Amino acid sequence: MHGLIFLELKKFVDARLGEAAWMEGLCRAGLQGREYLLVQEHPDAEALALLAAIGARMDLGDDALLQQLGEFMAPDLLRMYGSLLKREWRTLDVVEHTEATIHRVMRARNPSVGAIAMRAERSGPDGLVLTYASPRRMCGLAKGIVRGLAGHFRERVRLEEPACMRAGAPACRIRIERF
Ligand code: HEM
Repeated sequence: MHGLIFLELKKFVDARLGEAAWMEGLCRAGLQGREYLLVQEHPDAEALALLAAIGARMDLGDDALLQQLGEFMAPDLLRMYGSLLKREWRTLDVVEHTEATIHRVMRARNPSVGAIAMRAERSGPDGLVLTYASPRRMCGLAKGIVRGLAGHFRERVRLEEPACMRAGAPACRIRIERF
């Protein structure tokens, strides 16, 4: 997994639990002394071990932790990659165009970034359905990023996930409604 996710996880832990907690999380995950670089690919297994260790420390399941992480990191994503977005885009537009713009550029810059299987379809001016299927099963991250984007653009969104890979569905379906 891309270093950006690890660095955002560290920043999130520093902000929520203080700097010592990251070292503690690394130890709990059996990754003492490990360092993560932004523009580098790191093993998925390490991300999973860290998420489990930090989730246990915060008393959060991994879906809840990913949602909080996604919400936390959305402003940074916009700051770092905002130049790829149109100025007039708001929450639903950013989500609608993420695959074709941001994720595509991430893959072009770093070919080891996997094909992120996400498809967004507008269901109307205020609605969008995101379909996501990945062995990483990180739909929580998507839901959190959507909430973080909405916070940034001062919009209100309702999220529903009528199908989820974590509950055995072949893909996650996330309905997003602006109200
Ligand atoms: C705004 C700028 C964004 C940036 C810079 C960004 C960047 C990234 C990166 C670097 C990864 C890791 C990919 C890998 O290592 O293979 C990733 C994964 C992911 N992103 Fe984004 N992303 C952005 C927006 C979004 C949005 C808007 C959504 C959905 C609402 C989203 C959902 C996801 C999900 C679900 C994953 C995990 C994919 C998997 O299963 O491998 N991202 N993103």
